[in-house]
Amino acid sequence: MCYLLATPSQKVTVALVPIDPVLASHGEESAYDFGGATFDLDDPKDREIIRFVLSQALYGEATGVYCGKSLYSAGSLEAAKFYVRQAKQELGHLQLFAEVFRALDMTPVPAHWAIRLLSAHNNYYPLKVLMEHAVGEGMVLDIFKDLLLQTLPDDHPEVARIKKKLLVVCREEQEHVAWGEKETVRLISERPWLKTPFYGLVELQMAVLPSLVRAFRKRGAGHPVLTHLEGFLGYVRERVYTQGRKLGFVPEQRPGFLFRLWAMCFGTLLFVRSQFARSKSQLEKVYLRELGFDEARESP
Ligand SMILES: [Fe+2]
Ligand SMILES: [Fe+2]
Repeated sequence: MCYLLATPSQKVTVALVPIDPVLASHGEESAYDFGGATFDLDDPKDREIIRFVLSQALYGEATGVYCGKSLYSAGSLEAAKFYVRQAKQELGHLQLFAEVFRALDMTPVPAHWAIRLLSAHNNYYPLKVLMEHAVGEGMVLDIFKDLLLQTLPDDHPEVARIKKKLLVVCREEQEHVAWGEKETVRLISERPWLKTPFYGLVELQMAVLPSLVRAFRKRGAGHPVLTHLEGFLGYVRERVYTQGRKLGFVPEQRPGFLFRLWAMCFGTLLFVRSQFARSKSQLEKVYLRELGFDEARESP
């Protein structure tokens, strides 16, 4: 399957691993349109904004490398293969963003508290696949694919090379989102009670997003790109709800306040419980079955 990721001056076709078209939330759907608004990389104020955005990306990629921790508790060979591959890819992204900083002659700043909260590692597998992969990396992809690829100015000598790097990152992040979506669907079918706390957690995550927009707003009122932030936030929020509906845990009609409150409390309790979850090794318990040796074990 191929998706076309397009920028005003550049069209690059990226071949992706096959992704279930029902589950894939990114790719063929139209992205948010910034209407041609771009940053000016020669303007110190704009450079501060880009530095802030790239610093959040760099932090997210650094924490992404910790996905290697999930290898220890991988419950199948497929999961083990995915986490080995993902850790390698995230390490590559980390180095790639460092190259972007150097190309733009910038130094990173510490990550915003909301990014640190949203990218924290979770040992509880159901929350890991939902919050980190499906929703978290889905929003990361929104920032990379929609915001950075559209608003970095093509007339800057380094931007073509930077966009090429970003397209590589986007292609790999799309794989991570697809894994999270596939595993979320499997877990919901096995444990339908997860739907309510999953929905509540997404509502809570959506409630954190405006604080990030406020952080941007402080950095440049009236800027041609930043005037789109409210619209972009609305687009991301709606895309996440659509994703949740496709995955089967967001109700078709937005529930009333009391149900939302109950779902958020349930989600919070599950999140608190997840903070006490310990990684438990799995492969030594399932490797014979996973390798197809179950029958051999039963033979005399
Ligand atoms: Fe990444
Ligand atoms: Fe990722």
